[in-house]
Parts: sequence; C-alpha cells; structure tokens
Amino acid sequence: MRVLVVENYDEMSKKAASMVASQVILKPDSILGLATGDTPLGLYKELIRLYREQLVSFKEVKSFNLDEYLGLSKDNEQSYHYYMMENLFKHIDMNLENINIPDGMAENIEEECIRYEKKIAEACGIDMQVLGIGTNGHIGFNEPDIKFEAETHLVNLDEETIEVNSRFFQSIGEVPTQALSMGIKTIMHSKKVILLAYGIGKADAIAKTIRGKITPDLPASILQLHRDVTIIMDKAAASKL
Ligand code: GLP
Repeated sequence: MRVLVVENYDEMSKKAASMVASQVILKPDSILGLATGDTPLGLYKELIRLYREQLVSFKEVKSFNLDEYLGLSKDNEQSYHYYMMENLFKHIDMNLENINIPDGMAENIEEECIRYEKKIAEACGIDMQVLGIGTNGHIGFNEPDIKFEAETHLVNLDEETIEVNSRFFQSIGEVPTQALSMGIKTIMHSKKVILLAYGIGKADAIAKTIRGKITPDLPASILQLHRDVTIIMDKAAASKL
C-alpha cells in the first residue's frame, strides 16, 4: 500500500486527478471504476479542468460505477446516475454508451447484478478503481460483515450509513435501505486502486484499514492484500495512524 498524506482536500483531489489523468493518457481506452459521495467531487472538478485545458480526453474511456441505490430512477436527484452526470459526465467528452452504473430500477435485481458483473468481465476488468470510504469502513456499499468473495449484489445498508447519507435527503425516511454494489471480489480484481479520504470522521476507519486486522468487520481492510493500492488522505484523516 502506498500511503500519501497531504495538506488538505484540494491537494488530495489534485493528486488523485493526476493519477487518473495519467492512467487515461497512457491508455486512452482505460476502464475506470468510479465512486460517488463528497470525497471524489474535487477529483471530478479537477478532471473537468484538465479536459477543458485539453490535457486529457475521455473519448475512449469506459466507466463502471461502484453502486446505486435500489428504487431510485436515473433522473432522481439523489441517485448516483444523476450525481455522475451532474458532477462529471456532462462536462467531459465521455461517450454516454461507455458509462455503466447499476440500474436501481431493474425489474429483476439478481439478473441486473449478473449482467453488470459480466459487462465488467467483458471489458477485461477495471484498470483503475477510485474509492471513498464510509465511516464504518465500507467501500462501495460493502458494509461490515460482508463476504469477501461477493461480486455485484444487493446489499442492506447499515443504520450508520443510512444516517450518514441522510444529509443528502429531505429526511432520514427517504434514504433507500438497499443498494446494488460491486462486491469486494469485483473491487479486488481491479488492476489499480486509489482510495481517498479526508476529515477527522474517516480517521478511525483509515487507521483500521491500514494498520488493523484484515476482517469483514472493516471491509476496506481487505485492500491490504491488493497489489497496487494508493491511499491519499488529508492530515485529519491520517491523524489516528
Ligand atoms: C457512500 C458510497 C461510497 C462512499 C462513501 C463515503 O455511501 N456508497 O462509495 O465512498 O459513502 O461517502 P463520502 O465521500 O460522502 O464521505
């Protein structure tokens, strides 16, 4: 694991953007794994800037997002589809056909998970996966007690996750209780992983991810076994290392 501790959110975002942009410059048809949440917003802003300055093009890139809430349609403002369009895709030259996000409205969820996993395999796997981390150590929506061998699947969200994510909704009752998420196995098959964390709220989870036991109770701890992980965090997130 490479651990980079930087001064602040801005520096974290810029470092991550240089890594993603380098990946795409070196391999224009890269397969990117993308995350949502507050953490990667600065990274996406920076990628948009690099695109506008014509330093990188996403024309041939394919992307697979980590997760989506069950029951939210693509045009629902809380859906991860909406988030990705607003915060990245509509500002760069991604081909819309190359964008993949699990369908939270699929009629048959089990089939949707199999379809998603198959599509990742057909693309020959993810070259670079961007991750955030939950306060409980989740990655994607792989909550504590996850089975490490899981592929894309339907998950029940932890109470802690529902509470933390309720900040994006009008009330806690509106937060979906289930989601479709890539599994740990899917994430571990990515060739490279970049995990981003900022703020004191992530300090515990980060310390356990890097120094703790590898355990399904702290899903991100499995990353200790990945061959190419870079963790970029600000000083607050690193404060318990
Ligand atoms: C969400 C997402 C994760 C994300 C995490 C942290 O629930 N499913 O992919 O990394 O929580 O979110 P944030 O970056 O807003 O702290």
